[in-house]
Amino acid sequence: FNPGVVIVAAGRGERASAPEEGPKQYRPIGGRPVIAHTLSVFAEWGGATAGVVAVIHPDDEALFAAAVPENAGIRIVHGGTTRQQSVLNGLEALAERNPSHVLIHDAVRPFFDVALLERVCDGLRAGSDAILPAIAVADTLKKADTDHIVTETVARSGLFAAQTPQAFAFAPILAAHRSAAASGHADFTDDAGIAEWAGIPVKLVDGLADNVKLTYRRDIAMADEKLTRPAL
Ligand code: C5P
Repeated sequence: FNPGVVIVAAGRGERASAPEEGPKQYRPIGGRPVIAHTLSVFAEWGGATAGVVAVIHPDDEALFAAAVPENAGIRIVHGGTTRQQSVLNGLEALAERNPSHVLIHDAVRPFFDVALLERVCDGLRAGSDAILPAIAVADTLKKADTDHIVTETVARSGLFAAQTPQAFAFAPILAAHRSAAASGHADFTDDAGIAEWAGIPVKLVDGLADNVKLTYRRDIAMADEKLTRPAL
């Protein structure tokens, strides 16, 4: 068992709607950039025996160097215009290290822990080729048309919200990513989706309620508050 890690951090964060503040993965929460929190959980874990690849935007080299001053052997590669392309670039770089498995994680999810990393790895060790941390959907779900008129209530039983780190046997997920790219499928928003498309069974494990993706500006403010408010 020789897993590597790909952390995707090449997004521009347009939905955070404050371009002058820079990409959200470099914004400070609790006094440190988001990506520094994310990387520190992998460092605490210490299980990425085949190495860690950070996929960043070519414009962000200085931001990354400032965020991670003590770069402990993290390999840096450049991302693409979609998350899918960025992951593929990371997988291609990691291939040189001959990993048996890979954990793929969004830099903008800093609130995970070593126990979650062990949980996804346990799933791999038990023989699954694709492990997805997820939580059961708690809200009632509605479909609406473009005028915001509700057209349907979607039964939530059996529905799960997908998180990262998603974990895979390395050769099959690399092959699936390559064929998705080669056949023009460019709209996958997560890697479990590519595994499903390629016919690789995806097994769920429990995610974490706290493991949210910091997407909007408000998410950054809430994350900062969570880390800085005094403990009760
Ligand atoms: O855009 P989205 O919220 O799905 O981004 C999830 C993660 O993918 C973020 O960490 C972001 O930096 C990364 N990403 C990337 N390359 C892109 C788009 C997103 O690495 N072109």
